[in-house]
Amino acid sequence: MSVILVTGGSGTAGREVVARLLEDEHEVRILSRRSRDEGERLPVRWFTGDLRTGSGLGPAMAGVDAVVHCATTGGRGDITATRRLIGAAREAGAPHLVYISIVGVDRVAGFPYYGAKLECERLVEESGLPWTILRATQFHALITRFVRAQRLLPAVFTLGGGVRLQPVEAAEVGRRLAELACGEPLMGRAADMAGPEIRSAEELTREAVRAEGLHRPVVPLRLPAKSFHAVRDGALLSPEHADGRVSFEEFLAHH
Ligand SMILES: NC(=O)c1ccc[n+]([C@@H]2O[C@H](COP(=O)([O-])OP(=O)(O)OC[C@H]3O[C@@H](n4cnc5c(N)ncnc54)[C@H](OP(=O)(O)O)[C@@H]3O)[C@@H](O)[C@H]2O)c1
Repeated sequence: MSVILVTGGSGTAGREVVARLLEDEHEVRILSRRSRDEGERLPVRWFTGDLRTGSGLGPAMAGVDAVVHCATTGGRGDITATRRLIGAAREAGAPHLVYISIVGVDRVAGFPYYGAKLECERLVEESGLPWTILRATQFHALITRFVRAQRLLPAVFTLGGGVRLQPVEAAEVGRRLAELACGEPLMGRAADMAGPEIRSAEELTREAVRAEGLHRPVVPLRLPAKSFHAVRDGALLSPEHADGRVSFEEFLAHH
């Protein structure tokens, strides 16, 4: 049994990592900005902290064997957050750091979030800690999240121009992250994790709109040229690692 801290353990990927680690009877800690009653619903220890300021990191990190870093600020704040996490991990005796990144972060220019993720990968690689990075494609839940975020608009906007995605089930990514956290540090990237099918973003969005019961037109938008060419040429795909088993339809049917 290992002691494992999951940052972002309340989020889409982190929740799944926590569930897998608990199945294997590890001692699981979750770092969250919001305080919770000890053991709320799950048999885990919640630690209140903020990666952007570094508050609460020391106690959360003390005595852990591994950290699965799933927290994201959704922007360039991830760089500061990752830097602070690495600093706290170094002080806590250098646990194995497992970081979740995105397929194509090094191939698409012009997405500030991807630039931040790439910089975080570099920080992890140069951290001096034992480390492993897993890149995954877009989660199924991301597509429905985008659709829900637009539910009050007269139309649902999506990536047009034939952009293709290879969405993967977050639970399968969570399982892979949990396995990596319990294994030897790879000191490198694990094989990418991608979903079973490559589909156009427009088609996936239409399905999600239907599943949400929204009666809205779907409007494809073109990305700026700089990003578009790379994405159109498959920068977000990993056909050689189509290891996910759950299709988007199966995901929609269960959510
Ligand atoms: N979504 C995708 O399609 C996708 C695909 C590939 C890779 N990824 C990567 O997977 C990771 C997780 O993504 P996700 O979609 O699961 O994220 P998410 O559902 O948006 O969850 C974000 C998590 O980050 C935590 N968080 C945010 N700011 C924080 C801060 N300042 N200090 C501490 N915790 C903070 C939140 O916890 P509290 O609110 O409890 O504080 C929350 O649990 C990200 O690194 C993302 O880049 C995502």
